[in-house]
Amino acid sequence: MATTKRFDVKDLALAAEGIRRISWADRQMPVLAAIRERFENEQPLNGYRISACLHVTTETANLMRTLKAGGADVVLCASNPLSTQDDVAAALVEEYDVSVFAIKGEDNDTYYSHIEAAVDHKPHLTMDDGADVIGVLHSHRREQLGDIIAGTEETTTGVIRLKALEGDGALGFPIIAVNEAKTKHLFDNRYGTGQSTIDGIIRATNVLLAGKRFVVAGYGWVGRGVASRARGMGSHVIVAEVDPMRALEAVMDGFEVLPMAKAAEIGDIFCTATGDKHVITGEHMAKMKDGAILANTGHFNVEIDIPALKSLAVESRAAREFVEEFTLEDGRRLYLVADGRLVNLAAAEGHPALVMDMSFANQALAAEYAVQNAGKLEKKVYVVPDEIDREIARLKLATMDIDIDVLTEEQAKYLASWDEGT
Ligand SMILES: NC(=O)c1ccc[n+]([C@@H]2O[C@H](COP(=O)([O-])OP(=O)(O)OC[C@H]3O[C@@H](n4cnc5c(N)ncnc54)[C@H](O)[C@@H]3O)[C@@H](O)[C@H]2O)c1
Repeated sequence: MATTKRFDVKDLALAAEGIRRISWADRQMPVLAAIRERFENEQPLNGYRISACLHVTTETANLMRTLKAGGADVVLCASNPLSTQDDVAAALVEEYDVSVFAIKGEDNDTYYSHIEAAVDHKPHLTMDDGADVIGVLHSHRREQLGDIIAGTEETTTGVIRLKALEGDGALGFPIIAVNEAKTKHLFDNRYGTGQSTIDGIIRATNVLLAGKRFVVAGYGWVGRGVASRARGMGSHVIVAEVDPMRALEAVMDGFEVLPMAKAAEIGDIFCTATGDKHVITGEHMAKMKDGAILANTGHFNVEIDIPALKSLAVESRAAREFVEEFTLEDGRRLYLVADGRLVNLAAAEGHPALVMDMSFANQALAAEYAVQNAGKLEKKVYVVPDEIDREIARLKLATMDIDIDVLTEEQAKYLASWDEGT
């Protein structure tokens, strides 16, 4: 299909490969496909403009197709300069008539000019992964705030930023926190990020994980997934945490728990998953072993103090694609993967489609819910309604051909009563 849309992608000639890969992902996304079919019939988003700022992957392409099927006019930009799959961007423009502004490896200026281009679309709905579109709208595009019905937010870090905005009384429109849906973070953050982070580290470095000391910083949803997958590959996993409850959980799950200052001395591979800043500092790096590998899978590339690493180094060079070698004064070499950006998206392909099926079913249904409740929601951060969350779980089980038991009337009555204790 020849496009009439505005766009900025690497090369439209990559579209055929993108189409093939989008359809491969689609096979693993039956819940989203069912929603797409219903949207096609019911057109719940007809006439609404959506500006989406998400990782431009095959799974996101299937979400864009679903929103379009529902009648929306969609513009997509990247939520990270390194996570764009250029063939997918090309396919969205060429085959699916979606305006895309995203090029893998774009510099910071281009990255932000692409976000501005998405905001130029004058959205009724925003869809963020890290709150970048909302950030722009709340800083120098405030005149558009009043036109926006609601926004959705995909990730933990974005939700934290938006709750801070709400806390300051400065949130300009309602937000539905897709990350807070159980069918999102229990599966996407844990199993999706867990597997794809290990995949990213392996693709970038080709190191054997068996027998290595693998340090995971943060034992939240993402950290738990990374830790369990690294253990599954034979690593001795060490967890660094700041929250006593999470640290205790890591201990009971059988992991060694150490402060980062101690873990730094013995770790072979480090992976941050906290959403926090400077979790690995120059002081930690100064203690690391020759050959230590540093990666991050948290949202922003601030978890590893990269300026500190650069100032400690006397020399640096590209060791492999996505791996930079930093030589310290005493000759030790440290290896930074993917510039400290989300390693699963920068060096691999992001989450497997099967989990993104649920995350993006939440996105599509949250958009529909926002339109149905236009004008009724307050300028607050909402969780995805429980009915939507449970319906996605039910649909997912059905597509996996898994039946579950149903409460009998007697059991339902028993569980709802306080006086039937015997
Ligand atoms: N790579 C991906 O594809 C992907 C997917 C989902 C989420 N994320 C991002 O991963 C990050 C973590 O998400 P989550 O859902 O696990 O969050 P979470 O809030 O469940 O867990 C974060 C954990 O990090 C701990 N922590 C904070 N500061 C720390 C420090 N200085 N040292 C050690 N531990 C520290 C917290 O106590 C918490 O237990 C966020 O930035 C989120 O946006 C990335």
